[in-house]
Amino acid sequence: MIYSRIAGTGSFLPEKVYTNADLERMVDTTDEWITDRTGIKKRHIAGEGETTCDLAEHASRAAIEAAGLGVDDIDLIVFATTTPDQVFPSTACLLQKRLGIHGPAAFDIQAVCSGFIYAISIADKFIKTGSAKNALVIGAETLSRIVDWTDRETCILFGDGAGAVVLSASDKPGIISTHLHADGQYESLLNVPKGIVSDYEAVKQGEAFIHMKGREVFKVAVNTLGRIVDETLDAAGMTQADIDWLVPHQANVRIIGALGKKLSLPSERVVVTVQDHGNTSAASVPLALDTAVRDGRIQRGETLFLEAFGGGFTWGSALLIY
Ligand code: UT7
Repeated sequence: MIYSRIAGTGSFLPEKVYTNADLERMVDTTDEWITDRTGIKKRHIAGEGETTCDLAEHASRAAIEAAGLGVDDIDLIVFATTTPDQVFPSTACLLQKRLGIHGPAAFDIQAVCSGFIYAISIADKFIKTGSAKNALVIGAETLSRIVDWTDRETCILFGDGAGAVVLSASDKPGIISTHLHADGQYESLLNVPKGIVSDYEAVKQGEAFIHMKGREVFKVAVNTLGRIVDETLDAAGMTQADIDWLVPHQANVRIIGALGKKLSLPSERVVVTVQDHGNTSAASVPLALDTAVRDGRIQRGETLFLEAFGGGFTWGSALLIY
């Protein structure tokens, strides 16, 4: 049996930071409201001309180095993003060029905040079927480019960043199972209704930005993620007691808290980075994972529960032994 294991992780955040105090100067909000309702204190923002691929390159090089591999060992690139550099080629191909990799399949996945879970699930299947040995899986975003910085209901939530893992073939168990879902009936609750490149008029009219009915999204997210905990544990024949770490999508500390409770995990077993990163969409889970791996919290052999929920709606989970 071939398994896929996380061989290395990496992440990168742009230098520029907007604190809640900065946002107080931009829209009618307060640090107190943002902290109470979301848990967010600051978010990183890409510099002028800094692209999703730029952030991803740093995260990818760090992940490849952590895996003890070279770029020539990578034989698959799966790149989750909602904010690609260009309409085409895919950001995966742009990254492949930067890394100097020639030949292996490279493609983007668009599942908004669930993108990394979708990407790792796909890479896992390539490895388990023997089609790849070392897959580079990235979640990277420059969401600040599709945020309406005059809309206090959304602009306080999002940030930019990148996270990456190298998934390698192994004879020891790594990824136990992944579970992916989508339900397009909810598209109107969270969307960017116009294409940025194709419709510049829409940009001027403020339609090519993130629109979200936050309260409704919150309710569906909590219920849906609660259900995926049961689905994932049942599929693996595991219970809450078997999980060492929850590495959740970082949208809102209250959603994360509800999930930790559902898994009966004490708060010190839940990786929370939303206070420092905001919601970085597809980058949020690999950023949180790399943070907890590099600060020594997550150790080899521990069982991790990864989950995400986002526009579409899409949602998913990955259960794995690190
Ligand atoms: O990653 C993809 C998935 N996304 C999510 O999971 C996000 C899910 N939703 C949420 O996290 C929360 O719904 C939000 C953080 C977006 C909003 O929190 P909430 O507790 O649901 O607030 P609300 O939308 O119910 O708004 C409460 C009040 C409203 O005022 P009224 O109508 O009660 O007078 C808003 O206008 O807070 C007001 N408000 C603000 N006040 C100060 C909304 N945004 C702000 C703001 N500063 N930035």
